[in-house]
Amino acid sequence: MKLLICVLASLVFLAPLRPVSIPWLPGLIAGLGVLAVWMGSWKNIRVAACTIKRDLMCLAAIVKVRLSMHRNVQNKRTIPALFAQKVLQHPDKPALIFEATGEVWSFKDLQERCNAVAHLALAQGWAEGDVVALYMESHPSVVALWLGLAMVGVEAAFINHNLRQESLLHCVGVSGARAVVFGAEMTEAVSEVSGSLQPGTTLFCTGGEEEDGEQRCSFQAQSLEALLTCSPTHPPYYKLRKGFNDRLFYIYTSGTTGMPKAAVVVHSRYFRIAAFGFHSFGLRPDDVVYNCLPLYHSAGTIMGVGQCLLFGLTVVIRRKFSASRFWDDCVKHNCTVIQYIGEICRYLLAQPVRPSEAHHRVRVAIGNGLRPFVWEEFVRRFRIQRVGEFYGATECNCSLINIDGKVGACGFSSRILPNLYPIRLVKVKEGEKELLRDSQGLCIPCLPGEPGMLVGRISDKDPLRRFDGYADRDSTSQKIAHHVFQMGDSAYVSGDVLVMDEYGYMYFRDRSGDTFRWKGENVSTTEVEGVLSGLLGHTDVAVYGVSVPGVEGKAGMAAIAHTGADLDLDEFLSAVQKHLPSYARPIFLRFMPSVDTTGTFKIQKTRLQKESFKPQHTGEEIYFLNSRAGRYEAVDDELCKAIVEGKVSL
Ligand SMILES: *[C@@H]1O[C@H](CO)[C@@H](O)[C@H](O)[C@H]1NC(C)=O
Ligand SMILES: *[C@@H]1O[C@H](CO)[C@@H](O)[C@H](O)[C@H]1NC(C)=O
Ligand SMILES: *[C@@H]1O[C@H](CO)[C@@H](O)[C@H](O)[C@H]1NC(C)=O
Repeated sequence: MKLLICVLASLVFLAPLRPVSIPWLPGLIAGLGVLAVWMGSWKNIRVAACTIKRDLMCLAAIVKVRLSMHRNVQNKRTIPALFAQKVLQHPDKPALIFEATGEVWSFKDLQERCNAVAHLALAQGWAEGDVVALYMESHPSVVALWLGLAMVGVEAAFINHNLRQESLLHCVGVSGARAVVFGAEMTEAVSEVSGSLQPGTTLFCTGGEEEDGEQRCSFQAQSLEALLTCSPTHPPYYKLRKGFNDRLFYIYTSGTTGMPKAAVVVHSRYFRIAAFGFHSFGLRPDDVVYNCLPLYHSAGTIMGVGQCLLFGLTVVIRRKFSASRFWDDCVKHNCTVIQYIGEICRYLLAQPVRPSEAHHRVRVAIGNGLRPFVWEEFVRRFRIQRVGEFYGATECNCSLINIDGKVGACGFSSRILPNLYPIRLVKVKEGEKELLRDSQGLCIPCLPGEPGMLVGRISDKDPLRRFDGYADRDSTSQKIAHHVFQMGDSAYVSGDVLVMDEYGYMYFRDRSGDTFRWKGENVSTTEVEGVLSGLLGHTDVAVYGVSVPGVEGKAGMAAIAHTGADLDLDEFLSAVQKHLPSYARPIFLRFMPSVDTTGTFKIQKTRLQKESFKPQHTGEEIYFLNSRAGRYEAVDDELCKAIVEGKVSL
């Protein structure tokens, strides 16, 4: 059946190639024959026929983005200038809506607030290239702040509002900020570190009630509102020196090791990410975007808010994601586009069915990390027509886009013209991130099906291929490898291992460290988590390997956010046996009230791994899979001792 579709598709696409003078059928056959010689084999024809539509869609998006980027570079446009054009087109259209209060800011309102911020920045003596840190929860005023600062060339540094103490100080420190603007809700966190900030850092507080006033005074923060009220709302008389390839702001990326790094976002990168989203996922100017992602990350602030600033869409900003309010909000604001990260989809699926989930107008879901195990259920249950999955670190030039909604893929690389977009998977040492080299010292490209590191060639001439690096030089150099595609070149090393199928679709492989070995097999923790979570109504599940003395490998353990009380473990086990191969079934279960997650819902496993399977005394239950008896048994001190002493077979 699939082959038939491919052949039909190839007829449609190849028909225009036939020379005019030859009758239809022989011409077609001749055309196919020539193509076959050109491509080497029939298999490639099949692949080409099945992927040409996707490739052309992407090509169209690339052409559109490139043309507009070219125009913007020529005209020295910047993001504030592009936004000003949208304001002229429809000053009274709602630009940003704040869900918590129902405040609606029109394009003109937003522009005036940006102007006020720009005037304030000039009055403070901030100059182009100065940095101001923003530390607050999501609110439309975050947009007014960074955009207003950008009007006069001042760069915002978005600090994650979940950070405290050292990590907060670190992020403010590496940005070199002259001032910190914080939300009143962060007052306590700021007061904890205010003594350790660089001397001379000015503090401004925004929002909140008067009653916090006293505490604020103790570390001398000025009220931003008071200053902005006195600030003029007409455009500032200021000629911006910066152009399209200059710095706009900084976004911190959580490194796999160590403290967050500040990634530089230039105007062109902002434009490129938002424009690719707009043109690839079929967005329209009359769409309404529901944005419940944090604004300190690029997905929220570039992919989401960028649709408003650059393409005139209305964006609903939610202070914080809420699974129970999600669809009600979408209905209330007539949202047609939602943004997600993978965990959000799972949390939504875990919710009981409610009427609003069938009465919304959401057409497109854009985000990353929608895993294959929840993708289809998500699309079916919530009737989403189109999923726009993308991959790409803020700072990385090797972004991928899943333009045609292929289930499970995070993007693709063209099989017909692989060199059009110079990203590649190259072989790495097993279980490590070190790139393997051939005898000439070049990297070795992977074949379909072989997992490899995603790398992207760097060329500073082409704005689509630039790498703008991090605020500090050391972090930048760690991310660049040389002699990758050919001698003397350089490439950005994404740090992510992906695998490509024969059609060029790319799929995530676990970040290394996310697998453990058991009975000679590699167990993928995310895969087991996906299955267990699905069996348990999409509750939080963390899977990890624990060492058992005298036993090779790591035994699988699942921490499950569930009381375990009304769960039939025998039934659960038989479902597990049905869905997972024997080596992947968890040997230990740990039921706990909640599983630790970080600000972005990533599950933290280090503590769990350390506590292993020793019985805890906090009303939690631990179970052991007795394979002889074929059931899970509660682990008490006695059983724990027996396992440690090797008296029980695993
Ligand atoms: C949503 O759409 C309906 C019907 O088109 C309209 O009556 C309603 O006012 C809209 N709501 C909002 C918040 O725009
Ligand atoms: C498991 O991973 C190791 C290295 O991490 C590799 O050598 C081995 O071939 C893998 N085994 C299987 C069965 O995939
Ligand atoms: C990645 O960034 C580098 C550095 O500017 C650039 O040369 C390279 O072409 C980029 N690669 C892609 C695929 O965009």
